[in-house]
Amino acid sequence: MHPLQCVLQVQRSLGWGPLASVSWLSLRMCRAHSSLSSTMCPSPERQEDGARKDFSSRLAAGPTFQHFLKSASAPQEKLSSEVEDPPPYLMMDELLGRQRKVYLETYGCQMNVNDTEIAWSILQKSGYLRTSNLQEADVILLVTCSISLASFDLSREKAEQTIWNRLHQLKALKTRRPRSRVPLRIGILGCMAERLKEEILNREKMVDILAGPDAYRDLPRLLAVAESGQQAANVLLSLDETYADVMPVQTSASATSAFVSIMRGCDNMCSYCIVPFTRGRERSRPIASILEEVKKLSEQGLKEVTLLGQNVNSFRDNSEVQFNSAVPTNLSRGFTTNYKTKQGGLRFAHLLDQVSRVDPEMRIRFTSPHPKDFPDEVLQLIHERDNICKQIHLPAQSGSSRVLEAMRRGYSREAYVELVHHIRESIPGVSLSSDFIAGFCGETEEDHVQTVSLLREVQYNMGFLFAYSMRQKTRAYHRLKDDVPEEVKLRRLEELITIFREEATKANQTSVGCTQLVLVEGLSKRSATDLCGRNDGNLKVIFPDAEMEDVNNPGLRVRAQPGDYVLVKITSASSQTLRGHVLCRTTLRDSSAYC
Ligand code: 5AD
Ligand code: SF4
Repeated sequence: MHPLQCVLQVQRSLGWGPLASVSWLSLRMCRAHSSLSSTMCPSPERQEDGARKDFSSRLAAGPTFQHFLKSASAPQEKLSSEVEDPPPYLMMDELLGRQRKVYLETYGCQMNVNDTEIAWSILQKSGYLRTSNLQEADVILLVTCSISLASFDLSREKAEQTIWNRLHQLKALKTRRPRSRVPLRIGILGCMAERLKEEILNREKMVDILAGPDAYRDLPRLLAVAESGQQAANVLLSLDETYADVMPVQTSASATSAFVSIMRGCDNMCSYCIVPFTRGRERSRPIASILEEVKKLSEQGLKEVTLLGQNVNSFRDNSEVQFNSAVPTNLSRGFTTNYKTKQGGLRFAHLLDQVSRVDPEMRIRFTSPHPKDFPDEVLQLIHERDNICKQIHLPAQSGSSRVLEAMRRGYSREAYVELVHHIRESIPGVSLSSDFIAGFCGETEEDHVQTVSLLREVQYNMGFLFAYSMRQKTRAYHRLKDDVPEEVKLRRLEELITIFREEATKANQTSVGCTQLVLVEGLSKRSATDLCGRNDGNLKVIFPDAEMEDVNNPGLRVRAQPGDYVLVKITSASSQTLRGHVLCRTTLRDSSAYC
């Protein structure tokens, strides 16, 4: 979509009249005037007349019909070296950051951390500098979330209240700012911008820009508009934005692992979930650009990549026409979709295969998947390939078929349990985790008992448990009643936490006595004499920092460094951590089999 079209549509969706867009244009024209005649401010009529002329000349110089056609047919993937045309109605230098310093603050899920890197990559190319010091910032951007609830925590309200509180602190910073400095600009990015557009602009007058999750490319333009003292917003959701050509900037030099976004959005429409409304429709990034990013990360020496997406295993790259023949989609047995079955394209198994071949020393993980998209070819590949971690997140949400139906998850408890057995047979030793919601609309005590029994039956290694919190726009909001009292939700949540911990402790204790391959991350947070890393199942492993042998250099004694693979003999386990002692430094290929 062309940016001008964006502006108008956004303003309409924000409830502003067309006048608002006119006032934006005329303000920009007045600035153009004053540069021509700096001593004289024209009378309103002359100003109007001049504005009309200027408008005509800018219109003439503005976007042509061809320009709209060009943007409409733009290919999904652009080469990173390609230079974007500036919007024709803004001067090139108005889009430049002029070395202004940007402070980015991220809230919520991993997807948001990745979005922060994308937003930063776009601003950096536009001439902005990044600062980690709030006081020296010229632009402060909060990358927000209305979706992710902290694990074991309750509400979206809490997540959003944190942002409102932060905005009040920033307001003070803005008011106190000395006149000698350029005015401080404040922006809200991400899901909360999308969800609460009018409210933020009306309630928090000091917010200058709003950019929804699909509008980060528009940040330089939005900031250019804000320069003139106006609020600017783009919260349109896109059908095809994947930021395929934007390589996120790896911020931590010492990092051993990185997240690579492979798809965005979700078409599943689970009845409790706001993701399809804040993140939009499902779309996948072309495989070639994902591989390019993974190769770069491997060259930088990173040892672990997590493929990221709201529905990561629903990945479907339709960008290459030759693969778009009507190949049917294989779902997990007993699972259905809420949408018409899709066909064709390159699927997750193909991507996983390609990504895992980039660097055999690089671990590959993925999150967050949907249980419906685990066909045999994906399971087979995870089993076969040494560097694909044997760890699957399998969000169940409930153990009651009745509740699962109300949630519109597309499977019954029986189908889910059958899938768990099938996964365990296909990938021996696989580590499983899950999400559960306590107290969904209409959940009875009997339904809750069913969830408890599923936790016992599957015995997950990790879990993310939430109390249900009603979200506007969702199907549950429109059609169901949030009828489980808050104290009952909490009590059920606490029961689930207790049972999950008991079962995870049992599951993790089966590792005691085993030797596991651990990717070292650095010093343990709790002790300066211990190191910390992750096993294949993504569990934290703590072990004393001691000298050891390097299997590739017999006789050489070494201390483990971040990014090293080491073998650790596990000596104890809790629900969230393993402890052990280090045996030797090794490589992923040399130690694929253990325990
Ligand atoms: N209330 C409670 N938990 C929710 N989740 C998503 N939406 C809601 C909601 N409205 C949980 C689901 C999902 C995880 C990311 O967040 O368990 O898998
Ligand atoms: Fe939300 Fe369901 Fe999509 Fe997950 S699969 S993001 S829970 S709608």
